[in-house]
Amino acid sequence: MTTGDDMREVRVELGERGYVVRIGPGILAGLGAALRAVLGEGGSSVAAVITDENVAPLYGGCAIDSLRRAGYDARLVTVPAGDATKSLATASRLYDELAAAHMERSSPVIALGGGMVGDLTGFVAATWLRGVPFVQCSTTVEADVDAGVGGKTGVNHPAGKNLIGAFYQPRLVLMDTATLDTLPDRDFRAGLAESIKHGAIRDAAFLEWHHRNAHRILAHDAAAVAELLEKNVRIKADVVAADEREAGLRAILNFGHTIGHAVETLMDYEWRHGECVAVGMVAASRIGVRRSIMSAADAGRLRTLLETFGLPTRIPATIPPDRVIELTKMDKKVAAGKVKFVLVPRFGETVFRNDITDVEIRQAVEDMKP
Ligand code: GLY
Repeated sequence: MTTGDDMREVRVELGERGYVVRIGPGILAGLGAALRAVLGEGGSSVAAVITDENVAPLYGGCAIDSLRRAGYDARLVTVPAGDATKSLATASRLYDELAAAHMERSSPVIALGGGMVGDLTGFVAATWLRGVPFVQCSTTVEADVDAGVGGKTGVNHPAGKNLIGAFYQPRLVLMDTATLDTLPDRDFRAGLAESIKHGAIRDAAFLEWHHRNAHRILAHDAAAVAELLEKNVRIKADVVAADEREAGLRAILNFGHTIGHAVETLMDYEWRHGECVAVGMVAASRIGVRRSIMSAADAGRLRTLLETFGLPTRIPATIPPDRVIELTKMDKKVAAGKVKFVLVPRFGETVFRNDITDVEIRQAVEDMKP
């Protein structure tokens, strides 16, 4: 994406835990000064930036230089790329690094990367010394539109995704849109699944905006991408401000995630999260249509939009429906043994159903095989 776009700012209204999300090209270079402004001058001067081996050579230097210019004794800690890294074993290795760096309660921990790095780093920040200041510097569309905002942190367990975690809000979020220039096209498109999800569950006009602006978005047009990110952050911030800990409303963000997470686990994390959410939304739409909750026309329109962005809408033949059913029962949204499904009666609206049967899940999965 080219530069020249203005900086945008969205506040996540969470009282004393509220924070600002800044979106714009080149803003990573201002990380140190922005952090000083948020944390004040008096705190610890030790800082750690946690990133992965893909992002470290691209943006690690920029983040560290910026922190050093602001007077921080900053170190870069690199973990392997890929969701397999999001584990308690990696968290434990990161605690070793923080101990070696003599990180104190006021020492900031900065996530530099996509959703995996953000979730893992946030979990480490939430638990080290019972919580140190956490900053998100996201470098992927997926993290910008979803994972980077809202304070869900965590690591995976062999039994399922994100089963170990904490709600822990960042103090500051920076989305440097210039970092999307180096994002592989597959990852760029995968991130758009969460944007389409936000339109489907919360804002029908925004969903239509994706249809009208598909060419600009896919061409990484700077103005279109900045508008897309800001709109997503506003939708997410609004939902999180209303229901930070997912007591009710926030669960609408799980549209497509129940079957999507199962597919993600069964694909051994080889599919991108957004790709799994795309097939999960198609599966949930199929269930909705069979229950006469969603119209076939809307389900078709959603599927077409996902296909426009090159996202998968079929479940690989190798995925056994029984395992999908089994894994949905491990979902965090299970209450009293019932899986809580999010369905979309019409774009912009959602309903919850906790009586979706194994037969309905099996049917949706079978229907989606190539
Ligand atoms: N990614 C869903 C949420 O933040 O609640």
